[in-house]
Amino acid sequence: EKGGFRTFMDKEINDEPQAVADTLLGRTNTAGNLTLDELRIDEALLRTVDKIIVIACGTAAYAGHVAKYAIEHWCRIPVEVELAHEFRYRDAVVSEKTLVVAISQSGETMDTLMAVRHAREQGAKVLSIVNTHGSTIPRESDAVLYTHAGPEIAVASTKAFLAQLTAAYLLGLYLAQVRGTKFPDEIAGVLADLKAMPNKIRTVIDGGDRIRMIARWMDSRSVLFLGRHVGFPVAMEGALKLKELAYIHAEGFAAGELKHGPIALIEPGIPVFVIVPSPRGRDSLHSKVISNIQEIRARGARTLVIAEEGDDAVLPYADEVFWVPQSPTLLSPLVTVVPLQIFACELATARGLDVDQPRNLAKSVTVE
Ligand code: BG6
Repeated sequence: EKGGFRTFMDKEINDEPQAVADTLLGRTNTAGNLTLDELRIDEALLRTVDKIIVIACGTAAYAGHVAKYAIEHWCRIPVEVELAHEFRYRDAVVSEKTLVVAISQSGETMDTLMAVRHAREQGAKVLSIVNTHGSTIPRESDAVLYTHAGPEIAVASTKAFLAQLTAAYLLGLYLAQVRGTKFPDEIAGVLADLKAMPNKIRTVIDGGDRIRMIARWMDSRSVLFLGRHVGFPVAMEGALKLKELAYIHAEGFAAGELKHGPIALIEPGIPVFVIVPSPRGRDSLHSKVISNIQEIRARGARTLVIAEEGDDAVLPYADEVFWVPQSPTLLSPLVTVVPLQIFACELATARGLDVDQPRNLAKSVTVE
């Protein structure tokens, strides 16, 4: 069933363009409007929402972090992102006007389920983004937006993460449509950009030889990841993949936080992945991250840079560059995370580890 791949994870990474395309499929009409009737949630109710809280665990929570940037930008609704178990056991301020968005691949994660129940008891509406049909979280939610990633076998999530991002973008655009915070042609424009992403993801996967080679030769005991804006959750996800698959100490930081602490960790030879924002996006962000690369390189870090094709500004400071196709900033995690997944998968495989069944982890954690 691995379809000729070494591992389920290799296959699932290869399936990512399809997972994104399938999650987009059938959710727009010919006029380019989003048709999420499947949510069966009253549009009038969506207009009353004054706060969104995204709850999830692990990789799904990082998809939620990206969702925050997109939804706040498109819909002007405040979005909080919280680990489900932390949300559940504090006195979160929730009302009937709160929309709780629960993200889960399995739909069975007990921490997330408990948070869903808690939110509904407080009067919030819960919309879940889930991959597994017939699972518990969608049954207990007011509305469901399914990701169509297909079954994910490897314990650590890869293609489901991309499908979660895609579903979160659709939700954000739908809210913008219903609430009128974006013009229809702007929404249609983003949808067209989204539909172009599967081919770009394919380009990254097909161009993965260099990162695989770097991964095979990596002997460091610690790897850092830096990103800014939507690159920040991507950095955290890159670090999580490395911990889960290769049992290597890894941390993801917000690049802006570097000088407030993490820069003390920089020592000669330490590998640092840096996710560089598009130079075509908010100009100051790009140049700030370039300065970060310069700073850590000056202290001896080995800089492994993920940058947009054509961004020659990274060249003087990068020990390695992994290019990704040009994409709108908010959608860029769909391509920038892929080299990091390939890196962790390859490094773990090279060390003889079981990437599909990492030690101590389970695909769905049904205890709190
Ligand atoms: C963990 C898995 O147990 O649960 C992670 O090892 C996953 O890979 C997390 O991201 C959340 O799972 P789910 O099914 O709720 O998305």
